[in-house]
Amino acid sequence: MEDAHDLISRMHQASYHENQPVSAEKQEKPFPQYLDNVSNESGLIFLPDCSGFIPQHNDLLDVIIKRRSLRRYDESVEMSLEELSYLLKYTQGVREIDEKRSLTIRFVPSAGSRHPFETFVLVQRVAGLTQGLYRYIAQRHALEVFDLAFEAIQKAHESVYKQKQVITSAVTFFWAANVYRTSWRYSTRAYRYMNLDAGHVCQNLYLCAESIDYGVCAIAAFDDHLTNQLFNLDEVKRFMVYAASVGKKIPQA
Ligand SMILES: Cc1cc2nc3c(=O)[nH]c(=O)nc-3n(C[C@H](O)[C@H](O)[C@H](O)COP(=O)(O)O)c2cc1C
Repeated sequence: MEDAHDLISRMHQASYHENQPVSAEKQEKPFPQYLDNVSNESGLIFLPDCSGFIPQHNDLLDVIIKRRSLRRYDESVEMSLEELSYLLKYTQGVREIDEKRSLTIRFVPSAGSRHPFETFVLVQRVAGLTQGLYRYIAQRHALEVFDLAFEAIQKAHESVYKQKQVITSAVTFFWAANVYRTSWRYSTRAYRYMNLDAGHVCQNLYLCAESIDYGVCAIAAFDDHLTNQLFNLDEVKRFMVYAASVGKKIPQA
């Protein structure tokens, strides 16, 4: 068995420019599909427009200084749909669709603006939404019901090894990579870029949540097979990369 550092080094070196297989773009293979496919147009739940939404805390430096990972939430508070809309918009919302270049521009940076992520949301305490799993359709700023079964919620808890902050969260975000969106251009280097991209998304979640008195805990300790199974991800072209629980801060006495 190779030791961890040998493996890390091999994985890392597989993405060196000189070790990469020729990218799909260079082979003139088809453009990746860059918008989320909608499986049920009439079932979309459109999120409220939050362009006029003013967070309670608007001082960026103050928000950055206050940010911590929070694992205990006020379970008596429901998140409003507008708050959820705000968090989804500034983490993965689409600012612009560039049809000519077949890409989207969003509020977070992404290598080559490939934006490889699909966002799934475990909803547990959001006003007006039934508990369950949803998929965010970024270009429509809408949610699609994914699975409302009680067992799906339980599986979501199991998939993150029952971390308490997920069980007690108002919502938990799950970001899955749609690998071809990035590998089409960057070949094996995509593996780095997708993980770097994910960090930007989660950081925006931390900061936006902090600005409205919610706390976040990033989650990378999850069971890959269970999580991928739960969200119907094939583990080759699509797999889960990152998650984050969100809940209202407990007021200080
Ligand atoms: C990539 C990454 C993965 C993490 N995964 C988990 C996790 O699975 N469970 C958890 O409780 N915290 C997780 N955290 C939160 C870290 O433990 C936390 O950021 C760290 O303790 C520093 O605390 P701070 O965020 O309050 O500054 C993760 C953080 C990052 C950046």
